[in-house]
Amino acid sequence: MISKDINQAAQILTSGGIIGFPTETVYGLAGDIYSEKAIADIYRIKQRPRFNPLIVHLKSGADLDTVATDILQKARELAAAFWPGPLTMVLKKQAHIPDWISSGKSTVAVRVPNHPVALSLLQQIDFPLAAPSANPFGSISPTTAAHVEDYFGDQIPMVLDGGACQKGIESTIIGFEGNEPIVYRLGSVSIEEIEAVCGPIEVRNHNEAAPEAPGMLAKHYSPSTKLILSDDLKLSLETHYGKRIGVLSFTDVFDAPSIVKLEILSAKADLAEAASHLYAAMHRLDHAEIDLIIAEKLPDTGLGKSINDRLKRAATQ
Ligand code: TXA
Ligand code: MG
Repeated sequence: MISKDINQAAQILTSGGIIGFPTETVYGLAGDIYSEKAIADIYRIKQRPRFNPLIVHLKSGADLDTVATDILQKARELAAAFWPGPLTMVLKKQAHIPDWISSGKSTVAVRVPNHPVALSLLQQIDFPLAAPSANPFGSISPTTAAHVEDYFGDQIPMVLDGGACQKGIESTIIGFEGNEPIVYRLGSVSIEEIEAVCGPIEVRNHNEAAPEAPGMLAKHYSPSTKLILSDDLKLSLETHYGKRIGVLSFTDVFDAPSIVKLEILSAKADLAEAASHLYAAMHRLDHAEIDLIIAEKLPDTGLGKSINDRLKRAATQ
């Protein structure tokens, strides 16, 4: 059931239930971090491997010390700069943070979502929310309540409706090794914005076999329709002549009769707008009667890097 009733959402969560909930990045599948049953339900419903830990969502950066410890000055500066907002930090966890949300690791991933509905929900409950993106493991993340309802409507009591997600791709994840911050997942905060706060930062290649953020497996965010990433749309269309093709393009595209369905991410070539439209466009293409999705590579700068990262994973077989 899709609903705007925040009180009811708080009641369900307080009694150990799980719900779909809106954030500025993507919708999450949320439960009380202290409820072993709620967390088990999240993993089961998502079919997510238990080795892949969850992000803890706080109502305020002021609560950071209640979940994490040994917090570096750089981490505090990043929190001050980006919270509430789409930055997740991996920090040493407090001893009372249950192993069932951190997959037994000594660290915990934390963020404060910047969404009025999420924040008012978090203010009504007295525990943080664990929330992975509300999609079955490996598939396209949800950016509307309807996406979540389509995936899990028959398995969860409620999807709290907060409208379409404003950012549209997941939070950027930063961890710390020694004294140095490292980007583990590209996301809604660009590298350029982070570097403006804490100086040059290393970005890890998430496609390695043993990624620091274990969820960052090469294949992720995938539609069930085959997707290829193209540097040259015209050439790719010729190569796949005869197929029913859907095109995901950044801005405009020349007229080609083989394009059955066209999704333009931003007519005005704005990367933030493109990010906010990305997953909904992928969902629509995946529901169209086509053989192949050809996605155009975006400019590899700012949020374009994060979008290209998601497209690369969607294209991995
Ligand atoms: O924007 C977002 O971050 C959304 C919204 C709902 O907040 N959440 C999200 O969660 O994308 P999820 O579970 O789909 O991705 C969380 C990522 C995974 O790649 C996981 O491996 C990583 O965070 N992660 C969580 N805890 C970690 C830890 N202690 N150390 C390293 N990586 C961690
Ligand atoms: Mg996810």
